[in-house]
Amino acid sequence: MPDYTCQIVEWVKEKATIPVIVKLTPNVTDVTYIARAAVNGGADALSLINTINSIVAVDLDTFAPQPSVGGKSSHGGYCGPAVKPIALHLVSAVCGDAKVKIPVSGIGGISTWKDAAEFIALGSATVQVCTAVMHYGFRIVEDLIDGLSNWMDEKGHRTIEDFRGRALPNVVKWEDLDLNYHLVAKIDHATCIGCELCWVACEDGAHQAIRRNARGNGGPVVEIIEEACVGCNLCSEVCPVQGCITMESMPSGAAPVTWKQFTAGKGKLAPRSEHFHTATFGPKP
Ligand SMILES: Cc1cc2nc3c(=O)[nH]c(=O)nc-3n(C[C@H](O)[C@H](O)[C@H](O)COP(=O)(O)O)c2cc1C
Ligand code: SF4
Ligand code: SF4
Repeated sequence: MPDYTCQIVEWVKEKATIPVIVKLTPNVTDVTYIARAAVNGGADALSLINTINSIVAVDLDTFAPQPSVGGKSSHGGYCGPAVKPIALHLVSAVCGDAKVKIPVSGIGGISTWKDAAEFIALGSATVQVCTAVMHYGFRIVEDLIDGLSNWMDEKGHRTIEDFRGRALPNVVKWEDLDLNYHLVAKIDHATCIGCELCWVACEDGAHQAIRRNARGNGGPVVEIIEEACVGCNLCSEVCPVQGCITMESMPSGAAPVTWKQFTAGKGKLAPRSEHFHTATFGPKP
């Protein structure tokens, strides 16, 4: 409830003699409403995210959720590397909110200097680390500092402010993305081990844009059908060989057009082959 957030922050601010940093939970529908309420209550800064409500497992012999306390459990707080994408999104939402003009401390899954730099690039003024310190000890902080500092030297950033928030303008609504930006998967046949995982994923979970060839004829086991590929990335995610499937941009030859513009009758979609629209389950070798 944003109203309660505002009220509680006001109470704390009335008595506090030091700056008040309000920590936000991710367990809400839209964190920006809570962030604004904390700002309205007088918060000096915000931090996010706290842990995500979760049940990690159920013992199928006893039906006790894990970890079990005498056969019972409660939801726990999910944290660590798995929550980083959620935290980055929520930090970007708060830092990109014009009504939030106070510093934000980014938290959630930070365990390397790169993680820290990403949070800062999305607007965090500071970062915090919990799980990684519990896992590797406080010494990990020295590694974060060294790594961040080396990268900043390499890029010519003198202070954090030189790159803080630089990624924020690139976070847009999906309807503002260019529909004529075409990506196509490319397979490096020299490193492909012929496991066919990409074929399975594309055939059953994407656009049937990978051809599976008969083995033993000396040719590649799998090939991308470029005109059917929608650039969804799935094959590159499942390929077990690092760098074997890359996503490459293919100039569509058409001017950029967003969904918003297209549905308002402005701009044209680049032509696509019939195969792109009608890819179906093909014959199996
Ligand atoms: C064991 C444990 C205890 C925590 N206790 C608190 C707490 O008392 N108050 C709080 O605001 N956050 C608490 N957190 C949340 C962390 O401060 C942090 O927001 C969250 O774990 C995400 O960061 P991380 O991925 O670096 O762990 C706790 C986290 C863990 C793992
Ligand atoms: S990017 Fe998507 S559509 Fe294209 S080949 Fe890979 S899985 Fe198929
Ligand atoms: S998943 Fe990768 S290694 Fe396996 S067949 Fe596809 S391209 Fe080759």
